[in-house]
Amino acid sequence: MIRKAVIPAAGFGTRFLPASKSQPKEMLPIVDTPTIQYVVEEAVSAGVTDILMIIGKGKRAIEEHFDRNFELESELQEKGRTEQLEAIRRISNLANIHFVWQKELKGLGDAVSYARDHVGREPFLLLLGDTLIQSKTSLVRRLVELYDRYQETVVALESVDPAKVDRYGVIGGRQVAGDLYLIDDLVEKPKVGEAPSNLAIAARYALSPDIFDYITRTPPGKNGEIQLTDAMRLMLKDRAMYGVVLDGQRFDIGNKLDFLRTNVVFGLSHPELGSEFRAFLKETAQGL
Ligand code: UTP
Repeated sequence: MIRKAVIPAAGFGTRFLPASKSQPKEMLPIVDTPTIQYVVEEAVSAGVTDILMIIGKGKRAIEEHFDRNFELESELQEKGRTEQLEAIRRISNLANIHFVWQKELKGLGDAVSYARDHVGREPFLLLLGDTLIQSKTSLVRRLVELYDRYQETVVALESVDPAKVDRYGVIGGRQVAGDLYLIDDLVEKPKVGEAPSNLAIAARYALSPDIFDYITRTPPGKNGEIQLTDAMRLMLKDRAMYGVVLDGQRFDIGNKLDFLRTNVVFGLSHPELGSEFRAFLKETAQGL
């Protein structure tokens, strides 16, 4: 049973400048909730009770968001705003949340290596802090179940436009059942036309703790960074690895267009704002 999760959130977020200059992109709100809160809730929904966030310079707002704010709580209490008070308290009770600082931003693989002491010898979930998943059934729960069954690493996969494979970590593999693949190759940002498939690793992983040994042995790759995909590729020489195709959508909010799309999709299903927002969108669309 997986009970720990790691959420890397130290990156500069250069694709979202200037908004990410002095605030973490992981705190950008989707309607009224910071992206990283959805990610934490997703991990908790899969049974995780312990979360380690990898943060860095300029990311204090993340710590504060998951800490208690007694002044705000007493203000809300005095005003009798019980619903808001409960919502605020709930955030700091979602899980046991810990933080570690990535000293230099040397890539996702390097960020994950900072979790080694905390995770120990247990398998763990890895969820990218700037990416949301919407799926019919819980994707992370499925990753946990498959890890329990095979005792091997399982990653989420998304079928992407073959003309855009050069933006992703891409797998090669064999379909073993329905949405399940046995992976035999992994390439970070392959050239279009050279990718082993159009199945991209989709920001969610159930990882064996052995990954830490392989990260240590991984030299800098694309962009001079320690790539997690490269470490996984090394691990693949010794171990089986599975991929499960996402039955839904992935939103990378570190990308401006995806951020806008995400706000529209989540705005439309928002319990208080949804119907008014829908009417606004219809009216706007008519004038296009
Ligand atoms: P990204 O590659 O999307 O993050 O990493 P980035 O480097 O911040 O983005 P750009 O390209 O400059 O816009 C995915 C996740 O991994 C974290 C990021 O914070 C993000 O949540 N990350 C990335 C780290 O924690 N450390 C790193 O060295 C790189």
